Amino acid sequence: MTLKNSADRWGGISQLLHWSIAVLILSIGAIGLVMGELPRSPKFFWVYTVHKSLGLTVLALVLARIGWRLYAGAPQPVAGTPRWQSKLASLTHGAIYMLILAMPLSGWLYDSASGLRPLRWFGLAEVPKLSRPNEGLAGAMHETHELLFWVLLALVIGHAGAALYHHFVQRDATLARMLPRRWIDAPPPKESE
Ligand code: HEM
Ligand code: HEM
Repeated sequence: MTLKNSADRWGGISQLLHWSIAVLILSIGAIGLVMGELPRSPKFFWVYTVHKSLGLTVLALVLARIGWRLYAGAPQPVAGTPRWQSKLASLTHGAIYMLILAMPLSGWLYDSASGLRPLRWFGLAEVPKLSRPNEGLAGAMHETHELLFWVLLALVIGHAGAALYHHFVQRDATLARMLPRRWIDAPPPKESE
């Protein structure tokens, strides 16, 4: 597998970062939505710590991904994609990048401003607080954290829908080139069926 992106495919590093961040964000979101309902046992705090630690891991992965994207560039739009579609895709991708940065940052600020006990990343290393305890900021960050998640989820559903539309309806290589070679091929054009 080629690690760098080429003119017509995403390389291994971009693919690994894309799919690991996607799986992590959806899992962290699911944990976030249910963790408040858990019974208050010692495990309750551990689930919060896992949510926060995975979230901070995503922050590091997103920063690495943006760095890699600036260094390795991106493939050309798939041949035949109308200009409005590639413009819309670029806008959506830009918004998703901002949201996947804002999600962990708002969570981290919320944790910091709430004046909670020290946060240790997976129990291993203490994470610095970004602000002093501040009730107003904590409330605002809590709302932001929740609201941005729903906006992100809506965009990701549209984004995944667009990828599937490209694959099954437009029958082009958009989805195939974000997956390892031989996993799936771009579907053959309709005429050859
Ligand atoms: C939380 C989940 C997801 C996030 C945060 C996410 C984010 C992104 C971003 C930011 C890009 C643009 C890459 C760039 O230009 O640097 C991208 C590309 C892509 N994503 Fe996702 N994605 C997610 C889930 C999915 C899912 C579920 C699918 C498929 C069903 C998918 C399919 C694709 C494909 C095919 C591309 C490449 C598009 C192209 O070559 O123009 N993504 N994704
Ligand atoms: C990609 C990263 C993240 C995602 C997708 C995410 C998602 C979510 C979601 C969906 C909720 C439930 C919102 C609600 O119903 O109130 C939540 C709650 C929460 N998140 Fe995150 N989160 C992320 C990162 C973080 C980080 C890094 C921290 C702290 C360091 C954090 C701290 C919290 C806290 C404390 C809550 C509980 C709010 C409450 O009910 O009191 N999150 N998160």
